[in-house]
Amino acid sequence: MAILKIARMGHPVLLLRAEPVADPTTPEITQLLENMAETLEDAGGVGLAAPQIHESLRLFIYKIPASRAEGGADIPLTAVINPEITPLSDEITMGWEGCLSIPGLRAAVPRYEHIRLNGLTATGTPFEKNLSGFEARVVQHETDHLNGILYPMRMSDFRYFGFNEETLRYDFPLPKIKAAP
Ligand code: NI
Repeated sequence: MAILKIARMGHPVLLLRAEPVADPTTPEITQLLENMAETLEDAGGVGLAAPQIHESLRLFIYKIPASRAEGGADIPLTAVINPEITPLSDEITMGWEGCLSIPGLRAAVPRYEHIRLNGLTATGTPFEKNLSGFEARVVQHETDHLNGILYPMRMSDFRYFGFNEETLRYDFPLPKIKAAP
């Protein structure tokens, strides 16, 4: 196990379209996922995509604490390999996001409220899941990383972009936005 260095915005690896994973069950991918889990735990985020640790591969992990999950229960550490996202409605929601590659900042970003996620598990099993709310937001954010997209590129209103310490100090009512993400 190892804690990996996280690429920060400005590193070109974050702008690449990542390569599909041919076989999720190789020892290299298993090791990579373990190291990413340890790195996410250490950094204290909710999600981490492979390009963020300088591996241009289509996989990410996420883990959502009960306090931020819709159902009020923890969403345990989940690995998603070769994800495909399909919006399930036109509904767009604004919500706060941060990114381990953009430390200290957060912003309100428009995302689809309801999506379908297709992908492979860490054991290579195909799965399909319908997601809503914050989990759908996290999955859209992480999938964007695999396409060279960082959350500022999705923003529709730069007034809602700021340092954690400042934006958390004030209560920003988020706009109800209907623009496409
Ligand atoms: Ni991110």
